Amino acid sequence: MALPFDLIIRGGTVIDGTRAPRFFADVALRGDVIAKIGDLAGVKARREIDATGLIVAPGFIDAHTHDDRLMLSAPAMAPKVSQGVTTVIAGNCGVSLAPVTFKKDSVVTPPLDLLDIEGVWFRYRSFSEYVRHLGSAPAATNAALLVGHTTLRVATMADVKRPATPAEITRMQSMVTEALEAGAIGVSTGLFYEPATAAPTEEVIEVCRPLKGFGGVYCTHMRNEGAGVMDSLEETFRIGREVGVQVIVSHHKVMGLPNHGRSRETLAFIERQMKAQSIGLDCYPYCASSTILSADRVATASKVLITWSKPHPEFSGMALDEIEQKMGKPRVEVISSLLPAGAIYFAMEEGDVQSILKFEHTMIGSDGLPHDSSPHPRLWGTFPRVLGHYSRVLGLFPLETAIYKMTGLTAKTFGLAGRGVILEGAFADIAMFDAETVGEATTFSQSIAPAHGIANVIVNGEIVWTAGQSTAARPGRVLRRT
Ligand code: ZN
Ligand code: CU
Repeated sequence: MALPFDLIIRGGTVIDGTRAPRFFADVALRGDVIAKIGDLAGVKARREIDATGLIVAPGFIDAHTHDDRLMLSAPAMAPKVSQGVTTVIAGNCGVSLAPVTFKKDSVVTPPLDLLDIEGVWFRYRSFSEYVRHLGSAPAATNAALLVGHTTLRVATMADVKRPATPAEITRMQSMVTEALEAGAIGVSTGLFYEPATAAPTEEVIEVCRPLKGFGGVYCTHMRNEGAGVMDSLEETFRIGREVGVQVIVSHHKVMGLPNHGRSRETLAFIERQMKAQSIGLDCYPYCASSTILSADRVATASKVLITWSKPHPEFSGMALDEIEQKMGKPRVEVISSLLPAGAIYFAMEEGDVQSILKFEHTMIGSDGLPHDSSPHPRLWGTFPRVLGHYSRVLGLFPLETAIYKMTGLTAKTFGLAGRGVILEGAFADIAMFDAETVGEATTFSQSIAPAHGIANVIVNGEIVWTAGQSTAARPGRVLRRT
């Protein structure tokens, strides 16, 4: 006789992703959906998981990632599933893997090199080619994809150090349309980074025009997250208004000593403006940032760690001060001899990080950089750190709120139907963890390690992480925005 369910998760405490209080229940799955929630004593299934003492939550949605290539080159997605993440939003900060290609041995234009310094993974001439590839060789996690403005600039402009011409804008618009038709959920920009710094607001507005017809979203690593943060918020909101779409402020932060405490201003402005237009934001739970190495950024930080260096791989993981002593050269020369390289910058204030995390509308996003040799600990640690350090230890918010910020809120903000909730009929993306022990295992000196307390992770009804290890299942799908 056929059993009514494929899998029953028994005896756990459900936190459903809506901020509702927790409750005891068994959860039964059939295929890729949650079929029944309740007391299922006496009901049989093909397979059972004992979740006694565990929280059963919706799988986490990483609101901000650079996993475009990781899904192809390391499809087990260990840095993510080990934290309970079941869906990633990829293509952020203006940087998407498609649609741009590089010739062999050519230099990959920074910051696109954060996905692949060699350029061999930049092989998709169209976004649909990339989406097809992800469909035929799925990863362990689901993904929702953004097409990057910097990628489009590099693909269409002979000289990226100036504003795009009307003809170039037209080409970028047709590539945006192609990406959205292929399933992308929106466009991202990285206006902070060269060469996108050369793009005026009007260029971004024009490139984003096709978004409106598709109900797409505009995500941005803003032009300035320091002294000019308020102007940058205004620019972001203007782009949203003029294009007529939702905007997402990526990894919201305020950087540099003179700006510490200014999250009070930025959050008040965001909250006020949310009444007039659709705005979302995400944040990672650390007061150090990480990106490519640049002298400008070094100047604003109290401490700098090197995460990778092409000419000097031996220095990855070391402090810039230490490298200066070893090389016996002035700082500017040391920096240029390390390039291309990546770094971690300590330039935020803990109070700002906590205010932003706590803000009602803030989603959790890791901004993890999976190809760095000594990555920022956020890559493996973001979600357990919010659950453990910020919720359990510091009591910044209840566990129900922490989970909402990484599930229900994120699914709602990005329009991912049937995701981010434990509900009958929803997709069976589930994270099970021990609320008493959950926490990140990574630190700034030991930055690659699976988190503590994550027991089982399920994507589309299939177990992708259990007993501290990835399984062979690769059930990930490309999700569209609804
Ligand atoms: Zn960014
Ligand atoms: Cu980013």
